[in-house]
Amino acid sequence: MEMYTFKTQDEAAKFAYQMVETGVKEGQIRTLGLATGGTPLSLYKCMRESGLDVSNVSTVNLDEYVGLRDEDEHSYHYYMQKELFSHLNFKVSYLPDGMAADLDAECRRYDRILEENPVDLQVLGIGKNGHIGFNEPGTSFQSETHIVTLTASTRKANMRFFEREEDVPEQAISMGILSIMNAKKIMLLVFGKGKAEALRKMAKGPVDEACPASVLQNHPNVVVIADEDAASLLKDQGQK
Ligand code: GLP
Repeated sequence: MEMYTFKTQDEAAKFAYQMVETGVKEGQIRTLGLATGGTPLSLYKCMRESGLDVSNVSTVNLDEYVGLRDEDEHSYHYYMQKELFSHLNFKVSYLPDGMAADLDAECRRYDRILEENPVDLQVLGIGKNGHIGFNEPGTSFQSETHIVTLTASTRKANMRFFEREEDVPEQAISMGILSIMNAKKIMLLVFGKGKAEALRKMAKGPVDEACPASVLQNHPNVVVIADEDAASLLKDQGQK
């Protein structure tokens, strides 16, 4: 696991962007895995402003809420459209359909999309409880795309994007842990003091389903890009 720590989130995002740009320009990134939430916003800003030609790049997103229409401003479809897709010329972009009538069939459809579009670089954030995508603690490391019932802590954390707590959907459709681990390379972005303990457990704790992100210790090609606040509980904060 390579670890890069920066004073500020902006510096970290620029570094992350450079890695994306190089991969795209050199043709190593044909499929880019994308995340939502607050963490990747600074990277997406760099991408938007770059005008990078991504016409040869397909994207696949980690997850989507169940029951929100694409036009709903809380949906991840809407988020991706606003932050990235309306600004850059991606070849094609896939997200799970949280409005599908048959959600199990939708999971299988998404697994097929992932098989046909193996992810070259997966951008990843981490929840305070160690979740990746929407894979909550206790999710099998063998999981593929599945329906998730969100924990109270995740709903609370995501409440900041909604008007009222009861508006936060109770379920989501998420790539599984195995699906995430299938990416050739994973770029984990971690910012802020509130994520310090999650980052410590991810990197130094036991590899255990109680902390989904700890599975990344088993992946051969993970780059962690953090700010100093997030890395504050790791002893060696420098590059390794
Ligand atoms: C959300 C998303 C994850 C994200 C995580 C952290 O629930 N499903 O993909 O990485 O929680 O979110 P944030 O970056 O806003 O802290």
